[in-house]
Amino acid sequence: MSTHLIEVNNLRKIYSVRKKEYLYAVNNLSFYIEEGETYGLVGESGCGKTTTGRVMLGLEKADGGSVSYRGKNLCLLKEKEFRPFRKELQMVFQNSLSALNPRKRIGDILEEILLVHGIKNSAKRRETVMDMLTRVGLLEEHYFRFPHELSGGQVQRLGIAGALIVKPKLIVCDEPVSALDVSIQAQILNMLVKLKKEMHLSLLFISHDIGVVRFISDRIGVMYLGTLVEEAKTENLFENPLHPYTKALFASVPDPYMKKKDFEKLVGEQQKRNEMFLGCAFCKRCPNADEKCRKEVPELREVESGHKVACHYAK
Ligand SMILES: Nc1ncnc2c1ncn2[C@@H]1O[C@H](COP(=O)(O)OP(=O)(O)OP(=O)(O)O)[C@@H](O)[C@H]1O
Ligand SMILES: [Mg+2]
Repeated sequence: MSTHLIEVNNLRKIYSVRKKEYLYAVNNLSFYIEEGETYGLVGESGCGKTTTGRVMLGLEKADGGSVSYRGKNLCLLKEKEFRPFRKELQMVFQNSLSALNPRKRIGDILEEILLVHGIKNSAKRRETVMDMLTRVGLLEEHYFRFPHELSGGQVQRLGIAGALIVKPKLIVCDEPVSALDVSIQAQILNMLVKLKKEMHLSLLFISHDIGVVRFISDRIGVMYLGTLVEEAKTENLFENPLHPYTKALFASVPDPYMKKKDFEKLVGEQQKRNEMFLGCAFCKRCPNADEKCRKEVPELREVESGHKVACHYAK
């Protein structure tokens, strides 16, 4: 039996940007997350990571493909039918503060989430909130504080508390530590790893920071222009990156080990993908691109067990 908790198949999200002009923010994207797994989605700004997370959680409608959660296609559900899944699928944002009501005390914010999810007993709510605050490394006294009275790191802890308090199965973490300094990043990542184990969670971890994704992920999908160009177990990806884009990403990491490999740095800019787009998503920036790359979309093919790459010439 499949242990895939969630499966994304040929997902597509198209935005209309101007009259008769469309942008393919997510295009033919497929991956799965197993129960208990952390899947890292990495790629440069604008490649469609956030859009993917939002569509998976039903915050935006897909324009094609499916998101299958425990065998149910979430894309076909109406708002009311989606409700039972809201509790199980939660999201943590880069800037949790903007999602918090500044006029409410932290305790009330968290209790309200429980109330929405049907916990009517106020003593139970308070107890759950106090427990959650300490689990994410906040203090019970924070219950009475307002969001703006917290530091950046504490705000992100609160964002995580808000997602975890309803005991979800999967959380989508969208750049949850990107705005924090490195030492606080490490503390929060370690906390996420610990909570994931304790609460039997699965994680989709979105980031443009390859180092952060490497630390936390079991498997990694490298995304470029709305689609996956490479996917592998974390250690395999770092040991043997195959796609020219993955190599270019690694070349930009200030890590002497990676530098040794002498990968070519990324030049130029990401194009916009629209209906006129032919060929490989990366061909305009690829040092090895030829006529075939400009005409034929390379399939994401498995080159060794669990290691997939979408490049005509990757071996
Ligand atoms: N509501 C929208 N309307 C039109 N275009 C959008 C909308 N949301 C996102 N886009 C576009 O879709 C593409 C993907 O955006 P998305 O936010 O998913 O990227 P990202 O990988 O999360 O980037 P970042 O790392 O900067 O957060 C971008 O080109 C963006 O401009
Ligand atoms: Mg984003």
